[in-house]
Amino acid sequence: MKDRFLRACRREEVDATPVWFMRQAGRYMPEYRALRARHGFLEICARSELAAEATLQPLRAFDLDAAILFSDILVPLVPMGIDLEFSESEGPMIRNPIASEADISALRRIEPRVELGGVMAALGLVKRELAGKAALIGFAGAPFTLASYVIEGGSSRNFTKTKRLMYGEPRLWHELLGKLSAMIADYLVCQADAGADAVQLFDSWVGCLGPEDYREYVLPHSKPIFDALKERGVPSIHFGTDSGGLLSAMRDAGGDVIGLDWRIDLAEGWEKIGLDRGIQGNLDPAVLFAPRGEIERRVRSILDKAAGRPGHIFNLGHGILPDTPLESVKAVVELVHEYSRRG
Ligand code: CP3
Repeated sequence: MKDRFLRACRREEVDATPVWFMRQAGRYMPEYRALRARHGFLEICARSELAAEATLQPLRAFDLDAAILFSDILVPLVPMGIDLEFSESEGPMIRNPIASEADISALRRIEPRVELGGVMAALGLVKRELAGKAALIGFAGAPFTLASYVIEGGSSRNFTKTKRLMYGEPRLWHELLGKLSAMIADYLVCQADAGADAVQLFDSWVGCLGPEDYREYVLPHSKPIFDALKERGVPSIHFGTDSGGLLSAMRDAGGDVIGLDWRIDLAEGWEKIGLDRGIQGNLDPAVLFAPRGEIERRVRSILDKAAGRPGHIFNLGHGILPDTPLESVKAVVELVHEYSRRG
């Protein structure tokens, strides 16, 4: 049983620092491109045997300490009534974005065990295949980040529609985020029941807010999710990017482990979060395009700053970029394990 990932979530001593990557399954892998040549992205997410296959591809190629379920943060919005499509060039596109109170009321309350049964089945398949050789991570998008997609209708640069609703119609804002929060808490607990050993909440775009707005408009909706996970006893990771100014507020919302992107020094970030929590991340995904010597220098620097303290999970500050060289991914996994090996 390789349990260093879960031990790190609980801030216990480990034999070597655990490592996995956000977006570790994806287009940079030839196996994934072959799967995608035959099936659409949402089709892979919907069919449990295909989702399980995509989840396991990076585990076969690299000595990773954790698998992350192959799916997308937008998947649970579909049974709620959101009309979602992924375009090759534009990314996610929502044909019926949320603009009014009626739109919010029309969002359906879902039963994840039933309407997202394919996700639960995929978790079961992966769990059986992993047989304890690596941990299995489930995930969901956080209320703010999901709200930004349903309001903007897709990806956004400035989040103006999102902030217009947030500042202009705070009652509707809280209604929408409350609905999303309840769904997410249910969905994540259900994933733990289906076999996820830990779960990550992706608040990828929350770094567009300042700390006061975070505490007023976001924290009241993210915190109940972590409270539910704590009650269920499942370890949780709270992820954001550009979130250096929000770290102590995000810690207050919850999470056994808090994500750090590369725009903040690891030691400084961990200090802000507090040493009573774990941390994950910090390597710039673009470093994987650097020469091997430079990759090695950056990996060592992160491990030196973490200083073997319990609760460190090695990861990138955000997902693996398309076109990332496979040998760089392999090198980081090996370097982390070798350089951090204890005793
Ligand atoms: O990490 C993993 O390997 C697990 C699978 C996973 C995907 N998306 C697969 C995916 C996870 C955890 C996500 C989360 C996700 N999805 C986030 C949060 C993480 C982050 O990156 O901040 C967000 C914001 C999304 C929304 C999303 N999904 C966008 C904006 C896009 C299009 C841009 C892109 O990278 O292609 C996606 C598509 C997507 N999600 C792909 C994959 C492998 C590419 C789809 C394809 O194969 O065509």
